[in-house]
Amino acid sequence: MLLENKQSENQLVQFSGIKRADISLFIKREDLLHPTISGNKYRKLRYNIEEARNLNHKTLLTFGGAYSNHIAAVAAAGKEFDFKTIGIIRGDEFAFNIENTLQTNPTFRFSAEQNMRLEFVSRKIYREKDTTPFYDFLKEKFGDFYLIPEGGTNELAVKGIEEILNKEDENFDYLAVSMGTGGTISGLVKSSFQHQKVLGFSSLKADFFGDAINKFTSKKNFEIFNNYHFGKYGKVTEELIIFINKFKNETSIPLDPIYTGKMIFGIVDLINQNYFEKNAKILAIHTGGLQGIEGMNTVLLKKNLPIII
Ligand SMILES: Cc1ncc(COP(=O)(O)O)c(C=O)c1O
Repeated sequence: MLLENKQSENQLVQFSGIKRADISLFIKREDLLHPTISGNKYRKLRYNIEEARNLNHKTLLTFGGAYSNHIAAVAAAGKEFDFKTIGIIRGDEFAFNIENTLQTNPTFRFSAEQNMRLEFVSRKIYREKDTTPFYDFLKEKFGDFYLIPEGGTNELAVKGIEEILNKEDENFDYLAVSMGTGGTISGLVKSSFQHQKVLGFSSLKADFFGDAINKFTSKKNFEIFNNYHFGKYGKVTEELIIFINKFKNETSIPLDPIYTGKMIFGIVDLINQNYFEKNAKILAIHTGGLQGIEGMNTVLLKKNLPIII
């Protein structure tokens, strides 16, 4: 296979923010799987790029927003495995001054350096991305391509996510993961052991996750938390940044501000609120997303907020 099936280490978290000594929290370091195709992107792309190669496609086409981890990962995978890549990007304002866009947005700059062709479209057009007329338009414009949906979620992505867990992870009572489209939690629920409960932390205000998970599995051993998104998708507060920095100082584990930072904040809060029974063992999945820190820091600097270290 182009991307190998690798296992990542579970790291014990010792963090002063956790006020209960009987609970053990580990983080599965999926962020270390690959320098540029990291975390859940590695898992989601593994079978998809294999399929693209087997079907003899030369081009990968996908969708994403300004600081998308998925766009950066597809661009990197294309470069590494010799696919052309096209990113359909939400927001035509970025096209007005391309030089400035590439200078100020590290995700776009990185993706362009990986030779991804960036096509900026208006938010209105972007909303049509899953329709047949838009698909036909893309075919007409770009010719043949292998389509990967926004966020990378499809059946093959979920199959890849199922490879995160291994036999030793059976020891845990709880698994925790951040949610955007719901693809990652779906694979995790599918592959979870019978006695385990999967906790999903939403990165956005949304109530579609139950349906999103049901599309891939009939298992119901999950609970969704909708109160740790800090207002909306992409929003951060000073409290969150201070938390992420303190967590990194004490544990050496970097967290991103959009997904994993909010998840760990939520887990620590639930521990301290006595959500968990005595001696519970929790395994949180680090889904990567660290490439987004640089872009977020440019936004934080403009707002005079502390930056992520
Ligand atoms: C770093 C990171 N973690 C978690 C998620 C959420 O994954 P999913 O969209 O499969 O719910 C994403 C977004 O796709 C992500 O980039």
